Amino acid sequence: MSKKTVFITGAGRGIGEAIYKKLKTEKYKIIAPSRDELDLNDNVSIYRYIETHKNLKIDILINNAGVNFPSWIDELTDDNIDKHMQINLISPIKLIRAFVPYMKKNQWGKIINISSIFGVVARGKQTMYSATKHAINGVTKALALELGPSNILVNSVCPGFTNTDLVKRNPPEKNALIAKDIPMGRFAQPEEIAELVSFLISDKNTYINGQCLVIDGGFTCR
Ligand SMILES: NC(=O)c1ccc[n+]([C@@H]2O[C@H](COP(=O)([O-])OP(=O)(O)OC[C@H]3O[C@@H](n4cnc5c(N)ncnc54)[C@H](OP(=O)(O)O)[C@@H]3O)[C@@H](O)[C@H]2O)c1
Repeated sequence: MSKKTVFITGAGRGIGEAIYKKLKTEKYKIIAPSRDELDLNDNVSIYRYIETHKNLKIDILINNAGVNFPSWIDELTDDNIDKHMQINLISPIKLIRAFVPYMKKNQWGKIINISSIFGVVARGKQTMYSATKHAINGVTKALALELGPSNILVNSVCPGFTNTDLVKRNPPEKNALIAKDIPMGRFAQPEEIAELVSFLISDKNTYINGQCLVIDGGFTCR
């Protein structure tokens, strides 16, 4: 059987890098454009990439790239709103739209949206992050309904606090306090998130569809 082709965004570091490394050990052809090749904050870049790669036959799409710029509501700038919307929500939808026709033709596909626990719960200063992560979970559910009949499984993975640059920018004292609230007493390692993604896109997953799978060490059980 020929290798399946995976397309993943944001694979240069953090969770995306861990997924990339894990999938490299498995039987996939992987396409992982850098930000220079595909800037998700720029629709021109997205359209140019899609146009110049229109012969790509993508079996599995992993929308991983994301940003989080915390802000109190009364300090929230238009630029902050636009960046979250564009990178966390609009660009994944545009990539799905571009790659789904081949999956439909092939009657096989897997789509993973890397969401967040803040797509399920929320906290202060996370208005836009939470808005976009809740919304991408809505996209996952709507598309599971729409694409299930074409044998395309669509799921969200919702990590809790994970040791990447996204959280390393917090003061260590703050992260230590957060870790105390996590039943496991620690943040996730990116490799732990990659294991779940690897399973969901594998042939072992034949029936999980439209789910927002929380992987947070029990944090959201409180
Ligand atoms: N870390 C956590 O605690 C956590 C928890 C829940 C969910 N998540 C989600 O997991 C995903 C990965 O997060 P992470 O923690 O691995 O973050 P990270 O270490 O900050 O990495 C973010 C990735 O997204 C890419 N990216 C950002 N803006 C981009 C743009 N305009 N165009 C193309 N690529 C862009 C970055 O590319 P460059 O390398 O070029 O900057 C980088 O590869 C995100 O969707 C995030 O919301 C993370």
